[in-house]
Amino acid sequence: MRQRLLDWEAAARSRLEPAAADFFAAGSGSERSLAAAVAAWDDWCFAPRVLTDVSVVDTTLELFGLRLPSPVAVAPVAFHALAHAEGELASASGAERAGALYVMATRATRRIEEVAARLSRWWFQVYVLNDRGLTGSLVDRAVSAGARALVLTGDTPIVGRKPRPAGPIPLSNEDYLVNLGLELAESAAPGARELTAEDPGITEEVIGWLAERSGLPVLVKGVLRADDAERCLSAGAAGVIVSNHGGRQLDGALAPAHAIEEVAAAVDGRGPVLLDGGVRDGRSVLKALCLGADAVMVGRPAIWALAAGGEEGVFELLEGLRLELAEAMALAGARRLSECDRSLVRFDPAKGGRP
Ligand SMILES: Cc1cc2nc3c(=O)[nH]c(=O)nc-3n(C[C@H](O)[C@H](O)[C@H](O)COP(=O)(O)O)c2cc1C
Repeated sequence: MRQRLLDWEAAARSRLEPAAADFFAAGSGSERSLAAAVAAWDDWCFAPRVLTDVSVVDTTLELFGLRLPSPVAVAPVAFHALAHAEGELASASGAERAGALYVMATRATRRIEEVAARLSRWWFQVYVLNDRGLTGSLVDRAVSAGARALVLTGDTPIVGRKPRPAGPIPLSNEDYLVNLGLELAESAAPGARELTAEDPGITEEVIGWLAERSGLPVLVKGVLRADDAERCLSAGAAGVIVSNHGGRQLDGALAPAHAIEEVAAAVDGRGPVLLDGGVRDGRSVLKALCLGADAVMVGRPAIWALAAGGEEGVFELLEGLRLELAEAMALAGARRLSECDRSLVRFDPAKGGRP
């Protein structure tokens, strides 16, 4: 197990074309939210409990009937083929070996059915595209292939503009189109790319449409405020995911580490709350759990591990995070996830003691 995530990133960068590495690394705008998402975890300090008998530490949980050994999942990230020749096939196999939940992206670069064949615990991330029929057929395919929930990305009405890479990313048309049902010739036709772009006009009404069509729980990803959590639940969402899209959408948006408490309080146990953004070690996983997350997801860490080590890399990363979490729980005096509560963290007194 590589000890530090920086090592995975460095190893990945040595193998990737610079434009591919920058595609994964980039944030939008001035990349303020990108940097803040990682740094914000340091705003929270532990107030560990002593003398609690941590000879056995249990990191397992259940989400929508799925038993998981760890609360660390793989976030949906587009275009794994840019990171590794086997693309999502390799990342899925690594996650499966670790027993981790895997969220497959709408913009996966291997066929949904082939990736799903490697997985027993997975959710499907949905971008509602301008072509609503195409969106529906992707959802149908995910359901038939065994997805256990849908993740509706709510923070991408348009795609945030990013300063890097300066040029095009080295992704083939075949990889881009693999799940979109368009032939290459059709994709060159005027308007074809627009049909596969995100629909900027969607509202919370799509939650009910997706739930009804799929029969699956729908979680809304990208929630950073209490009133949005409430609105999503009222519209039929089964849970929410606190995220600022890894700092790739609205630059300057709140860090997930600063938003999780408010959102989790609003949800108040009515469904699972997940979080992603800047989670880089077991201690930040523990902080997220203490602030109200039921589970966390990692985006770039999984990509760097995939690029550097393929299936094995993704397995090592996820298993390493689980072990780090177990160690942090033991040192904090928490024996199981239900004991990872708000009392174990304080906003850094050096920063004024309040978020
Ligand atoms: C290169 C890249 C592509 C992404 N593609 C998607 C996507 O297709 N759908 C989505 O919902 N989120 C996408 N995300 C956001 C991730 O799901 C996640 O919110 C983010 O990466 C978490 O931050 P982290 O990278 O610090 O772990 C992407 C993130 C990155 C870095």
